[in-house]
Amino acid sequence: MYSEKGKYSVEVCFSPLSWPLFEKDNTVVIITDIFRATTSICAAFQNKVKSIIPVADIEESIAYKEKGYIVSGERDGKKLECAEFGNSPFNFMEPGLQNKTVVMNTTNGTQAIKMVQKGDNLVCMGAFSNRDAICNWATAQKRNIIIFCAGWKNRFSLEDSLFAGSAVDYIIKNGNGDFHTMCDSAIASVDMWEEAKSNPRQYIEKAAHRHRLRKMGLDDILDYSMQLNINQCVPVLKGIEIVDIA
Ligand code: MLT
Repeated sequence: MYSEKGKYSVEVCFSPLSWPLFEKDNTVVIITDIFRATTSICAAFQNKVKSIIPVADIEESIAYKEKGYIVSGERDGKKLECAEFGNSPFNFMEPGLQNKTVVMNTTNGTQAIKMVQKGDNLVCMGAFSNRDAICNWATAQKRNIIIFCAGWKNRFSLEDSLFAGSAVDYIIKNGNGDFHTMCDSAIASVDMWEEAKSNPRQYIEKAAHRHRLRKMGLDDILDYSMQLNINQCVPVLKGIEIVDIA
């Protein structure tokens, strides 16, 4: 997988703490938070939600609620008091959300989105559910690509890193020879994907957040979240909102 060929680089940032080491201008940043933020964002767009406003502070969610917005979100998996629903992808499949804007606030995913929301970077959301669609869009931008794993409270997360590996593998193989990687975290993530790809759902049984979700009775999303390419959405940050530009 190590390759010096190709004009553009693809790298993987395993933790928000490492972001200052990766951050550069004129880059496509693919944020991933498989359990559950970016999987939920993709589910929302498949359900024709109009847009999602990611926020990091609970006070901001409350302010949006007071203005009449639909507010969703969780902390440590539990629904926020000010929210109408939590962060399960199934919450975002309700027909009543179609053509609506939803404010989302999560423990790691929306924090990561807010972190990269500056400069001239193109910021988009990736999950197993939209992997090919998001990678095809990212490679078409003809820029360096960084896959940013939201992780868990700055820790490495197996599910996000596994997605990163599957995305790097796809980008190098399908990027018309335009992409290379000399990034050890990208190479390690591809090695993980090689190990897991025959049965990613089984592999992810080991993940810490899988066990956290089970303890809270929120692990009904596992099968759904590990499915590859079940939708074609391309969620991209435009100003303060995420919209589907597919
Ligand atoms: C997050 O953003 O931290 C997650 O998506 C957590 C979750 O929903 O369980």
